[in-house]
Amino acid sequence: MKLFITFEGIDGCGKTTQLHLLQDYLTRKGEKVTLIREPGGTKLSETIRQILLNSKESINYLTELFLFESARAELTEKVILPALNRNEIVLCDRFYDSTTAYQGYGRMIDISKIEVLNKLATNGLEPDITFYLRIPLEIAKERTKSKSLDRMESADIEFYKRVINGFDEIYEKEKHRIVKIDATNNIDSVHQSILVYIHNRLNI
Ligand code: TYD
Repeated sequence: MKLFITFEGIDGCGKTTQLHLLQDYLTRKGEKVTLIREPGGTKLSETIRQILLNSKESINYLTELFLFESARAELTEKVILPALNRNEIVLCDRFYDSTTAYQGYGRMIDISKIEVLNKLATNGLEPDITFYLRIPLEIAKERTKSKSLDRMESADIEFYKRVINGFDEIYEKEKHRIVKIDATNNIDSVHQSILVYIHNRLNI
């Protein structure tokens, strides 16, 4: 089945775990699934990821934006579109909503300009379904506190408040494709909420 599903939310929301659970479920149902993450998914995009997450040198906010978009342009053209053309389900850990939320709302770069770049990098490709796993900031901080933080995760609290508000506003504008899930619940109940939606919408 040709279907493009993305997962979004702030660091610590549990999207990576949920992506793997959904991948297992869909594979058991006989679907061919391609699972990827952003930034990443190709050799070049993984190299860009290393720069974005581990650079010791400070990165200008516009450079950061262009690097995320560069990684996305590669991934879209080389992996996502070919998989969709083979009628596979593509599950992507983050996509352009993350850029709108982190670089737009978080770094405060003009959102309308970001939307233009998002369209350009993806050739206008939109996810069919986006699961937005929502958790409040306090829970995110609690969940990531024992983890060593990368460059993005080391941003201050005000930045994260703006990012959460950004995801909430994107959801309000894009309800036709975004499903908001309360991700404060345990792993299994979040997974069940996702499955209920998949079942109702796709009958699988
Ligand atoms: P993620 O893969 O979720 O991190 P982890 O490996 O810790 O699970 O995402 C990497 C970081 O990049 C995350 O802090 C969000 C950030 N990010 C942006 O700022 N803009 C973007 O466009 C994307 C895709 C990610």
